[in-house]
Amino acid sequence: MVSNLMDKIVALCKRRGFIYPGSEIYGGLNGTWDLGPLGTLLANNIKNEWWKSIVLSRDDVVGLDSSILYHPKVWEASGHVASFTDPLIECKICHERFRADHKKDISEHEKMHDKQKWTEIKPFNLMFKTYVGPIDNEENKTYLRPETAQGIFINFQNVINSTRVKIPFGIAQIGKGFRNEITTGNFLFRVREFEMMELEYFVNPGLDEKWYEYWREQRLSWYLKLGIKKNNIKLVDIPKKDIAHYARKATELWYNWPFMGFGELEGIVNRGDYDLSQHAKYSGRDLSYLDQDTKEKYLPYVIEPSVGLGRTMLAFLLDSYYEDDPSTHSTGSGQASSGPSGKRVVLKLHPKLASVKVAVFPLLANKLPLVNLSKDIYYNLKKQINGMVAFDDRGNIGKRYYSQDEIGTPFCVTVDFQSLEDKTVTARDRDTTKQERVKIENLEKYLSTKLN
Ligand code: GAP
Repeated sequence: MVSNLMDKIVALCKRRGFIYPGSEIYGGLNGTWDLGPLGTLLANNIKNEWWKSIVLSRDDVVGLDSSILYHPKVWEASGHVASFTDPLIECKICHERFRADHKKDISEHEKMHDKQKWTEIKPFNLMFKTYVGPIDNEENKTYLRPETAQGIFINFQNVINSTRVKIPFGIAQIGKGFRNEITTGNFLFRVREFEMMELEYFVNPGLDEKWYEYWREQRLSWYLKLGIKKNNIKLVDIPKKDIAHYARKATELWYNWPFMGFGELEGIVNRGDYDLSQHAKYSGRDLSYLDQDTKEKYLPYVIEPSVGLGRTMLAFLLDSYYEDDPSTHSTGSGQASSGPSGKRVVLKLHPKLASVKVAVFPLLANKLPLVNLSKDIYYNLKKQINGMVAFDDRGNIGKRYYSQDEIGTPFCVTVDFQSLEDKTVTARDRDTTKQERVKIENLEKYLSTKLN
């Protein structure tokens, strides 16, 4: 167990350009984070893996990219205006506001005042309000979407009419969601603006239980395949009293967060026909599905796996963080591959997720033949490898290995004097630190096999 893991991840993310605090030069904006160059690559890789598994590898799911602003009626119909609330409580002494169900925050605060006085608990709606057009009045008021799911439901008939989908089928969407959370915290865990990856899978009402089970297992296995440790993730059934207003049944995938133990990473919910029937009612449109074979007409039920990209990214970063003793590893250069702390820090990210796939180094930066050959290899790999390839000639080779280990680059390729003679390079594996000599002409095949 790594001590202060969360602090180390937050610091590493800032230092290496994964994640920066939002609006930092103005003192920050609470609940917002910006992705840096490496964070952007990691986020895109996660989204690609999700999209591949949910859409591209299947023949029953299509994609959608709806706008963020919807007609205000959408939010009345969906129940979010009335029910998308958290319980709010305010300290009568200093007027700080808290989520009434966050008992730890409340008891911490109670230590600040001798005689604590709280207001009544009130529901606080989490949707950000905004106005469409130049007049700021009630009529023009709408909301930034707190989930992408509604964009799918309001396009249900469009998709049916414009494609050949047949039930059971799904519509998937990746996009921004906004929630004016009462309190934020734990880095990417609870923020006010975040990307969501959501699937609405439409099924025959009698078969909803079967598909609910199916998607629970699919989603768990997605995390396991991408390297999350089995002991750190589990499916947990949520009791009826704690589930969202639209849900018939809900499961959560819980991750073992260092700051709270097991807690929600992703939700998998049986939404029944709640959303389609509400939108049919509020829009006056018939949103039922006609089964062409049986001529049966019905409102399908919906199974929804839904996750925030930030929470997923945080889980992958935490799960892949290792520190070990550099003396137990060889760099092949006689130099220890370690950082300022003396420890080798490694993000053992799955190669499909790693921000940079391969880094190419000349052994010495001042030997032109080494630099030229390594640049040739670098530019070739940039064309051949599916993902980011980096070049580094700064400092000594051990430091360069350290630097790539810390951001999770699965392979480093070094061009040395032997390379000039026999046209081979060393390929170093991040996790074992073992090096193999590989013919330059076979390098692309060697790396592609290892990275996939
Ligand atoms: N459409 C269903 C839905 O929105 P949710 O459980 O409210 O369900 C889905 O949110 C997922 O979005 C959560 O499981 C979590 O991964 C992520 N999420 C929710 N609120 C978040 C927040 N404030 N910050 C970061 N991620 C959040």
